[in-house]
Amino acid sequence: MGFSCWFLVLGLLQQFFGLNCAQLLMHGESTTNYVSAIGDPGMENPNVRVALEAWNFCNEVGFEAPNMGSPRWADCADLDCSSNTGHLGDGLVNDGRQCRVLHQVNDSDNSLRAGDKFPIMGFESYTDPDLFAKEKELYLGSLCEVPESPNPWQFWMIMVKNGNFDKNTTLCPENGQKVSKIVTDRNFPCFGEGCMNQPLVYHKYSILDSFDGQKVYLTGEFYGTYDLDANLSEDATDGFNGGYHYNGRGIMKKLPESPNFLVRLTLDIKLGGGPNSQFYLLDIGSCWKNNGEPCDGDVLTDVTRYSEMIINPATTSWCRADNLVFCPPYHISPTGKMIYRNETAQFPYSAYHLYCSPGNAKYLEEPYDICDPYSNPQSQELVQILPHPEWAVHGYPEKQGDGWIGDSRTWELDVGALSSRLYFYQDPGTKPARRIWSSLNVGTEIYVSPTGETAEWTVSDFDVVVPEVMKTKP
Ligand SMILES: *[C@@H]1O[C@H](CO)[C@@H](O)[C@H](O)[C@H]1NC(C)=O
Ligand SMILES: *[C@@H]1O[C@H](CO)[C@@H](O)[C@H](O)[C@H]1NC(C)=O
Ligand SMILES: *[C@@H]1O[C@H](CO)[C@@H](O)[C@H](O)[C@H]1NC(C)=O
Ligand SMILES: *[C@@H]1O[C@H](CO)[C@@H](O)[C@H](O)[C@H]1NC(C)=O
Repeated sequence: MGFSCWFLVLGLLQQFFGLNCAQLLMHGESTTNYVSAIGDPGMENPNVRVALEAWNFCNEVGFEAPNMGSPRWADCADLDCSSNTGHLGDGLVNDGRQCRVLHQVNDSDNSLRAGDKFPIMGFESYTDPDLFAKEKELYLGSLCEVPESPNPWQFWMIMVKNGNFDKNTTLCPENGQKVSKIVTDRNFPCFGEGCMNQPLVYHKYSILDSFDGQKVYLTGEFYGTYDLDANLSEDATDGFNGGYHYNGRGIMKKLPESPNFLVRLTLDIKLGGGPNSQFYLLDIGSCWKNNGEPCDGDVLTDVTRYSEMIINPATTSWCRADNLVFCPPYHISPTGKMIYRNETAQFPYSAYHLYCSPGNAKYLEEPYDICDPYSNPQSQELVQILPHPEWAVHGYPEKQGDGWIGDSRTWELDVGALSSRLYFYQDPGTKPARRIWSSLNVGTEIYVSPTGETAEWTVSDFDVVVPEVMKTKP
């Protein structure tokens, strides 16, 4: 067995549909103070809170990889420094203090697999690998949890996803619908039976290190591969997030809502992943139904909604005046003007890579293209945008190449304002959905390539800022 394609994205947070947080996020606040919405503002916490999740093509587990356990792992460690040290034999000296690592998650936690009992009460074991994985994520989250107002938080999430899809199996539903046979003329990579496997993942637990024997810090590593035949001497993985129909755990304390939030981060791309790498600054994900109601886990009517700015300059605009099928029905200008895609003199075609519609939408305007019905547990909708002056007004890249290899920058993105300007499908006459974003991601999806591709990047300073005062519910 081998593998042909994988996605490498750094997933930053994961707090499913946010129903438990929704009451905190209100429309129409008029505040001046902004506060961080995440547990580790700017990534400056000396303690480590990182988890890794792996998915198959439709954001499920399917089958666990041999001897790997359920594909959820965590490294959560606290740096414990004391000036009163006599007994801390294994510590490092730091300004007269000694430090040690307190691990919150051990090997027996990380190796839990479907069917295993959890060592503490409150977590249910399942033999179904899909259900077990979400429960393991909650369990690991409980070990890593940092209590904080208004909500606790758990970890940064690294996501990896297998891009292979075996059309001979019925492991993935079609727009959320169980099907007995998959009939589609879409092409997906698959080398044969077993191509949708989960990865081998290895873990170097956080250890103490120091700069010049002075400033002490924690460092650790996850690495792995989807190639089950690989001999892992070297291999690094980082990963992505998106449509998932179970409650998860992450770094967010509050979920940001359009139009009022900002994302700040430093992105340094060292290797881009080749021409078919869709590198996202950022990918934001949410879920609401076509009638505007929030999602409730019913995969037949829930729709995951993504907006992604792709900054790989090799990515072209599929939305063109002569190819309206890949354009959203209309564009909203920075001043709020609605421009139909058939207004060829005004529509900013080059601001879009592509738009595709949810497969369960009933009132689509011709011409339309349906998003891949298999790669999420439910229908999905995608608005993929490109660097352009239309978006640069919100701090996003203005032209292709901005922020790409050799152009590391610290971005302050008005994601709230941009995301409130995007077209998303709703049934006619329904109340507009609240755009509450449960996942914000940086990283790439690498599509099929004749040769191996490598992407490498670092993310630092990540923060999400939201209004401090939330008004009472309208
Ligand atoms: C690992 O941690 C769990 C939960 O804290 C605990 O129940 C278990 O005994 C630990 N196992 C080992 C081998 O330390
Ligand atoms: C799917 O089934 C067809 C027909 O039996 C076979 O030719 C093909 O190799 C199978 N594909 C995979 C990925 O197993
Ligand atoms: C994997 O690679 C290491 C280092 O090259 C080698 O020592 C080891 O025997 C290899 N293992 C397998 C199973 O091939
Ligand atoms: C452009 O699209 C809008 C909305 O679909 C439609 O009402 C209008 O008739 C179209 N105009 C032309 C010239 O096709």
